[in-house]
Amino acid sequence: MKVTDRIKQEHDEVTKLFEQFEKRPTMKLVKQIKEVLDPHHYAEEETVFADVAKKSEQKAELVRNLKAEHEAIDLLFEDIFLMKVSDEMFEPKVYVLHEVIDHHLKEEEEVFFKHAEEVYSDAKLSSVTKDFDQAKSAYTPSKDEAN
Ligand SMILES: [Fe+2]
Ligand SMILES: [Fe+2]
Repeated sequence: MKVTDRIKQEHDEVTKLFEQFEKRPTMKLVKQIKEVLDPHHYAEEETVFADVAKKSEQKAELVRNLKAEHEAIDLLFEDIFLMKVSDEMFEPKVYVLHEVIDHHLKEEEEVFFKHAEEVYSDAKLSSVTKDFDQAKSAYTPSKDEAN
């Protein structure tokens, strides 16, 4: 499987979890979304982002923007985990999180994937999937996130 297909597959998983959240908002679902995204973001940064950023300043700039979005998403999760589901700002905050994540996933699928396809040969596009999956398994949440 191409690494872009693996990434898309995980994006779709996140989208499905948000659909479930819309039907039944729970903190558990927000946690599940974070559990998919944390290793996913880590693996992107360790493998495809690093490879693509090396190729040109334009590509490096795109990768910096995507990393800044990963950080913004992390901060929103931190905010939400300080709240209770009964808090009147809980659902509005998750709505914003959803908007930011949607934007991020689209930017990767519509812009970053094109750059990755320029940088990698077809064979490499498939072989890098193994590195991506390995990076995901190597991901360990930092202490302050492990709650
Ligand atoms: Fe990402
Ligand atoms: Fe992604």
